[in-house]
Amino acid sequence: MAEQIIYIDGEYLPKSKAVISVFDHGFLYGDGVFEGIRAYNGYVFKLKEHIDRLYESAKTMMLDVQMKKSVMGEAVIGTLKRNNLRDAYIRLIVTRGVGDLGLDPRKCPKSSVIVIAGTISLMSKEAAENGIKTLITWVRRDPIDGTSHETKSLNYLNSILAKIEANNVGADEAIFLNPQGYVCEGTAENLFVIKNGNALTPPTYTGALPGITQVAVIEIASKMGIKVQSRPITAHELFNADEVFFTGTAAEIIPVASINGRVIGSGKAGEVTKKLRREFAKYAADPANGTPCV
Ligand SMILES: Cc1ncc(COP(=O)(O)O)c(C=O)c1O
Repeated sequence: MAEQIIYIDGEYLPKSKAVISVFDHGFLYGDGVFEGIRAYNGYVFKLKEHIDRLYESAKTMMLDVQMKKSVMGEAVIGTLKRNNLRDAYIRLIVTRGVGDLGLDPRKCPKSSVIVIAGTISLMSKEAAENGIKTLITWVRRDPIDGTSHETKSLNYLNSILAKIEANNVGADEAIFLNPQGYVCEGTAENLFVIKNGNALTPPTYTGALPGITQVAVIEIASKMGIKVQSRPITAHELFNADEVFFTGTAAEIIPVASINGRVIGSGKAGEVTKKLRREFAKYAADPANGTPCV
């Protein structure tokens, strides 16, 4: 099998030669931004939206990407082409670059761009059908006036702590409350509630990432005649939902079976969730929602 090809700063390198410096502040301090992107059947899903979000994250962090958005798009597509991938999970990373051992970003004159394209299979068929066990964790989502997850930075320690807590009790995923106590999101997914045929999802101002899958699901649900409201949700509302599911690039749509021991709805994927999963698969496969990469 041919060696995987990785893009680093304008070069396409075999995996064994694709290395970054230990002085890169992405490594030393989590100082950088990233995107997780999927390609479906030769089309990169919502590439423009991902690149726009990447540059917005970089702007907040005053990270100078030093590359035009069009060139960034070409790097993503070039990496897929060189790896002969039609269906893929892509990791696009911009790090602050090489500096010294202090954290001062002024010491990092040149940011680095990395593209890794591979495959990911996050969820088993069993989980898709039966839903997953989740835990509302004691770890609060980082505040919006701090390391807010509206910015998709390389610092995922908040999510990792929550995942550990979930794993400790045999749960597959954690649900965050924000510092005000409202439901926020999962460790790398947005969250939806279905109640009486309507959908609810926490808004970005709760501290959640503005999800690209979330926006797609709102569009799909609206077309299906489901009323979608974006507003803060309480834990009580979550426990008493008819259905709960996560959305994300890697996750796509994952049903939630239980939350802190409370069974949600039937305890399996609900009817609305199942329908949305089918419609999302069609939406993701629609070339109108992607950029060709073959
Ligand atoms: C913290 C967080 N929330 C939500 C999401 C879902 O966003 P998207 O649908 O754009 O992948 C992700 C994944 O990127 C994430 O890392």
